[in-house]
Amino acid sequence: MTSWVSNAWYVAAWDAEVDVAPLARTICGVPMVLYRKLDRSVVALRDACPHRLLPLSLGLREGDSIRCRYHGLKLGPDGIAEEMPLRSDPVNRRVCAESFVTAERHRFVWVWVGDRALADPALIPDLWACSAPGWVFDGGYTRVAADYRLMIDNLMDLTHETYVHAGSIGQPEILDAPIEAQVRADGVFVSRWMPGIEAPPFWRDALKADGPVDRWQVCRFLLPAAVMIDVGVAPVGAGATLDSHDHGVRGMVVDFMTPESETSHHYFWGMARNFDIDDAGFTARFKRQQGGVFAEDKAILEAQQASIAANPELGLTAYRIDEGGVRARQIIARAIANGETA
Ligand code: FES
Ligand SMILES: [Fe+2]
Repeated sequence: MTSWVSNAWYVAAWDAEVDVAPLARTICGVPMVLYRKLDRSVVALRDACPHRLLPLSLGLREGDSIRCRYHGLKLGPDGIAEEMPLRSDPVNRRVCAESFVTAERHRFVWVWVGDRALADPALIPDLWACSAPGWVFDGGYTRVAADYRLMIDNLMDLTHETYVHAGSIGQPEILDAPIEAQVRADGVFVSRWMPGIEAPPFWRDALKADGPVDRWQVCRFLLPAAVMIDVGVAPVGAGATLDSHDHGVRGMVVDFMTPESETSHHYFWGMARNFDIDDAGFTARFKRQQGGVFAEDKAILEAQQASIAANPELGLTAYRIDEGGVRARQIIARAIANGETA
């Protein structure tokens, strides 16, 4: 049994990463090759030539097809043979590489790794802030040599900001604010409401005003492996509440953790925001800064994964701060056990 839900959409790549040239990426333990057809739709095939298993990602693109670089077997975008290595051999259409269903939404290329018949685009996680009018979204990619669930734990518990990100975004006040974890039909939520505080510099600049603010942080886990963190501030008295807060400046930190193996994952991260949306320079600077912050998490998680491997007789323990991650793991485990789609 795997540690991930199989019948689910996973982010395979940023939209900009997939082009005409083949891209190799292992998704949920399956080596895949991704490329764009002439109509720009995305092909995902098992990254192994049906002949002698050379990765197809080393192959040559021809129209919408791909030709293996070893003996020249040519496969169409559906993975089915179009030309045999010996041109005089009749084409055997039973020769094929497995193909996977793809979709593009919210700036990401998604792939369905389980039963093709269940691949309904309506099940793509609703990362709404990445494509909402009045918002702008960008971000990056980091491979992390750690179980994807360790990153979910990390993102559902922002107390780690104080120590892991002491030099960047850490704020001791985060440890003072009470937290509340809730399991709802639309995900696991961990909320922090910090009323009447001094805005930290980032948010004061975003708001372009001085004075006390109400600040919120709402972490939300969605199956199969997404965390969205709703963050922002509003001037005190503007009417913002934990449930409704479009009164000031708002950002949505978007994280998707696609398992690569049991001990590594592809981390797609970014932030959508509803302020200064035409400032491309801000977008680029913020992305660089966010990449630096997440490199701090990568270092911690990879050390944690190595320690887990080095101490097989020990287990993880959970304190109150871990409740969000614990609840998210329970929902993943239940979906795996029930063979659910996510
Ligand atoms: S390994 Fe691909 S054609 Fe032989
Ligand atoms: Fe972090």
